[in-house]
Amino acid sequence: MRIIPGCTSDVIADAATSLIMGGLVAFPTETVYGLGANATNMDAVARIYQVKNRPVNHPLIVHISSIEHLDKWARAIPEFAITLARSYWPGPMTLVLPRTELAKDFITGNQDNVAIRVPSHPIAQELLIQFEVQGGAGVVAPSANRFGKVSPTNAEAVLRELGQFLHVEDKILNGGSSQVGIESTIIDCTNDRPIILRPGAITNEMINSLLSIESNVLNSIKNKIKVPGSLNSHYAPNAKIYLSETPSPGDGFIALSSFPTPLGAIRLASPVDHEEFARILYSALNLADKKSLKKVYIIPPTGSGIAIAIRDRIKKASC
Ligand code: TXA
Ligand code: MG
Repeated sequence: MRIIPGCTSDVIADAATSLIMGGLVAFPTETVYGLGANATNMDAVARIYQVKNRPVNHPLIVHISSIEHLDKWARAIPEFAITLARSYWPGPMTLVLPRTELAKDFITGNQDNVAIRVPSHPIAQELLIQFEVQGGAGVVAPSANRFGKVSPTNAEAVLRELGQFLHVEDKILNGGSSQVGIESTIIDCTNDRPIILRPGAITNEMINSLLSIESNVLNSIKNKIKVPGSLNSHYAPNAKIYLSETPSPGDGFIALSSFPTPLGAIRLASPVDHEEFARILYSALNLADKKSLKKVYIIPPTGSGIAIAIRDRIKKASC
């Protein structure tokens, strides 16, 4: 396995062929890098669970190139889901819908619904189009990290995280740094109104401004759908994460640029706004591990919008 730098059309077509043949291809999306496999190939999907060391009952997101392919995977699609898909796809949003027969138990974790996303990153788009042209129906792609660890937002981070578990013929497509930086918003569309299972760049406000019905934010007690990202410890670096406390000299520190660096702390990131905070959060956590820091102090952003998703990831990294 190797990182492929120049993603020409030929390179992407080859990668699509690898997927069709049952290989694994890590690829960039606008949220984080995904580890892709042919969603209808049970053996290829099994390898994803192995490489990630992920429990088998945790369902995967099927990636397709456009809304045109949605009917293959989902049925009984409510009107509000169509409205969301037309507005925010391609983009950082995943919809959970009742599944068709194509969505087998080995990708849904035996649930009767399936998660679908249309990513907007040009390399992801071209890979999915090529894959569909070559006869594929969809690509499952969890974040390209070991289970419970930080999602990679560039190709080097994928190699560091998964390189030793991949085969020589597997591929990592290099598409630079992911623009959004945190995983897609997951919206459960199997009830009479949307329920946000995982917050992301498509915010509650964006959903409510579009629809005449209000969305509900996840109620983890009532929610019966399994969402690995909703386990307490997730997105965790090796360093221990502390919130709103004062670091000692030699500890890592992440906060908006308006916060000065406490004396002796190692500044890992100084994002100027919430969008940049999301974009650099995971690479800053990876940097802490590269520097073998034991403790990282983070001042989470306040307010609504994408700040909710950033706080969610920081909280999970800190458990
Ligand atoms: O931004 C993203 O969504 C990235 C990129 C690569 O597309 N993918 C990603 O996949 O974050 P993963 O597997 O790391 O996280 C997928 C989340 C998990 O929390 C999983 O439980 C949830 O999606 N999920 C998948 N299928 C589901 C389903 N049928 N019902 C509820 N949640 C589901
Ligand atoms: Mg993940």
